[in-house]
Amino acid sequence: MEIKKVGVVGFGLMGGGIAEVCAKAGYDTVVVEVAQQFLDKGYKNVTVSLEKAVKREKMTAEEKDAALGRLKGTLNMEEFGDRDLVIEAAIENLDEKKKIFASLDKTCPPAAILASNTSCLSILDMAAMTGRPDKVLGLHFFSPVPVMQLVEIVRTLVTSDETMALAKPFCESIGKTTVLCQDIPGFIANRLSMAYLAYTIRFYEQGMASKEDIDKTMRLGLNHPMGPLELSDFIGLDTVYYIMSAMYDELKDPLFAPPTVLKKMVTAGHLGRKTGKGFYDYR
Ligand code: CAA
Repeated sequence: MEIKKVGVVGFGLMGGGIAEVCAKAGYDTVVVEVAQQFLDKGYKNVTVSLEKAVKREKMTAEEKDAALGRLKGTLNMEEFGDRDLVIEAAIENLDEKKKIFASLDKTCPPAAILASNTSCLSILDMAAMTGRPDKVLGLHFFSPVPVMQLVEIVRTLVTSDETMALAKPFCESIGKTTVLCQDIPGFIANRLSMAYLAYTIRFYEQGMASKEDIDKTMRLGLNHPMGPLELSDFIGLDTVYYIMSAMYDELKDPLFAPPTVLKKMVTAGHLGRKTGKGFYDYR
């Protein structure tokens, strides 16, 4: 089997980035959303990102136009009837994802591979909603998708060798490097980084150092591109809270218990960069 046609569920930050890199690499790409306003916003974000890539001389204006020409948005999942691979990048909620996988199983061709971009949830639970659990795996991308090199490939207990054999070459064809992970909460990246972020937020909460000094230490002392509080704002505090909660629920490890200050900020709608306020003020 050869992957030529890709579907993406969700035109948010991650879905849009995934659709962008697929279309850029030459794949016929269809993105499904639940409302026209999300399609419009997603398409605009991809256009802006591709224009930025042209400005940064990462691609030509002709290549940008060709990539946009390969990208289509739809409100109708029936359009996934000819897809070879579908990558789900919808809301981080297991019940929602399970419903999406059940629908994908009905709509996509029997040979199609179904992947989830979840950052921490069980791929096997999604696979169990389908009649093709051997063709289900995790492909976890990082934000901003056009810039970050890595994809975590997640294999469940029942993902077949044939499915795995297609995953790595596909990721490489869209310019990504891969690592192989087991289907465990947080895979590799979030298992390690959420422990770091949770510990940092508690450290800050306890008044051990200022937020500026915490971030400056990790940026200048350890050469991280962003400090942990800046990074939390960048990921989105709701997403960070959700990932920590899901990992804590599953693992019962107090390391992942979401810090109180994080919960309060999420309740207040201070979600980081996307709302203009988080640990820092972006307004
Ligand atoms: N398309 C293609 N290339 C682009 C681009 C685009 N739209 N936008 C920027 N680039 C390129 C730039 O040209 C530049 O390339 P060169 O180094 O070759 O010049 C590079 O990307 C960096 O771009 P910028 O100079 O604009 O950005 P920066 O240097 O300020 O870095 C950043 C921005 C990449 C976000 C950096 O701060 C960073 O790496 N931060 C950490 C990000 C991170 O950790 N992400 C993971 C979050 S966790 C996650 O996503 C998973 C999860 O499950 C929660």
